[in-house]
Amino acid sequence: MSALSPPPDQDIVVVGATGDLAHRKLLPALYNLSVEHLLPTKGNIVGTAPFTWNDQRFREHARDGVTKFSRTGIDTAAFDAFAQRLHFVPIADGDLAPLRAHLGCDRRIAYLAVPPSAFKALIDALGAAGLAQGTSIIIEKPFGHDLSSARALNQTLHAVIPEDRVYRIDHYLGKETVQNLLVFRFGNSVSERIWNRDAIARVEITVAESLGVDGRGVLYEEIGAIRDIVQNHMFQVLAVTAMEPPISFEAEAIRNEKVKVLESIHPIDPHDMVRGQYAAGMVEDERVVGYLEEPGVAANSTTETFAALRMHLDSWRWSGIPFLLRTGKRLPTRDTRIVITFRDVPVHLFRDVGVHQMDSNRMVVHIQPNEGIALKFVAKQPGPDVTTQQVEMTFSYGTSFKTSPPEAYERLLHDALDGDHTLFIREDEVESGWAAVERVLMSPPPVHLYPAGSWGPPEADRIASPGHWHNATV
Ligand code: BG6
Repeated sequence: MSALSPPPDQDIVVVGATGDLAHRKLLPALYNLSVEHLLPTKGNIVGTAPFTWNDQRFREHARDGVTKFSRTGIDTAAFDAFAQRLHFVPIADGDLAPLRAHLGCDRRIAYLAVPPSAFKALIDALGAAGLAQGTSIIIEKPFGHDLSSARALNQTLHAVIPEDRVYRIDHYLGKETVQNLLVFRFGNSVSERIWNRDAIARVEITVAESLGVDGRGVLYEEIGAIRDIVQNHMFQVLAVTAMEPPISFEAEAIRNEKVKVLESIHPIDPHDMVRGQYAAGMVEDERVVGYLEEPGVAANSTTETFAALRMHLDSWRWSGIPFLLRTGKRLPTRDTRIVITFRDVPVHLFRDVGVHQMDSNRMVVHIQPNEGIALKFVAKQPGPDVTTQQVEMTFSYGTSFKTSPPEAYERLLHDALDGDHTLFIREDEVESGWAAVERVLMSPPPVHLYPAGSWGPPEADRIASPGHWHNATV
């Protein structure tokens, strides 16, 4: 991964610049890169969309996004300097040729911040406008709708832009805690010895959100939790958790190992998955509507907002170890964690002195919030009797580094501008991810309702059994 310095001179084109992603994430991230002198020294930031906006309107949109969502807030002088680089080019009839007049560099990167249904037409339009030469593309998820559409999209892309200029983004890889997992696993000699089927009994990954579909009902209807979170964010976390040590820290070495994990996923059986959809309920002390009442959602929709699944990896390291994945919207809290449960002691010595139940040792990697790692183990309670209690050793970002992790999009935008592919998804990786969920997408199991504010439908408990899910305490 690159040292942080300004990337080579190039223009940045944000396609879909009037949308939510640009407003909440991309423009604030570009602003913060500008503040930290991590944008290319030369080059425009050109927003485009089928809207009759001008530069001034685009700059106001950016100012509003930065004010509301920048992790460092807004500094007026710094924003004014940044805004000088912002330009807006309206597009009509999908013709991208008018962009050419606003590009000052030979090199450029185009960020496709648009719904997936628009990808193909835009990629073709880039080629038709004669803009393929010198252009790299950052493309948002979900990449395709299933295996065959992902393959078709890869072909569309490669007809215009070669793979070494394609950056398939999954912002989970930009999260510090996900990157730290690589360092934890491969920078510490103690971790490798316990990171396998001999020491580990099961691995749980939870991506819980308290938010609902948040105004994205129309888009979400086409996607659902499996495509929105499981096939991409969760599989990326899984890949980093389960991969073999790479031969170096180079992009291809890391991506080679990640793809092997995804290829080793035993095709997921629909019986090993429970799908759910939130009904009305209370979340974080607020009454919220059910998914079916969200704007843009069909009255009889069976789109899942929750999925829990059990899967296995056909690999020497992990054979026989269950990987339990669970994600949902309108769960009690926002919490992304990996819970590694270690095997129990072979002989329970303390039974004779009256301790009948001992908790398993567990490691919890807190991806967000309260970023850090906790190791839970059993200790003797002080006193004359042998009584045990589970205790915890913790590492927390806040305490150790006195700072909260930076925004994933800043890191990822900088890396793509700098030509570093390490944290982006390769063609074969995305296809392997789709192949793993193909069976459940073809014959999805039924959807069970769960009240908003609960941990999903009770049917999901079956997936974690024997044992139970390890939830954040709310
Ligand atoms: C996005 C999904 O990719 O990730 C959203 O489309 C989801 O549905 C979001 O809310 C979660 O991201 P984070 O960084 O808040 O975990």
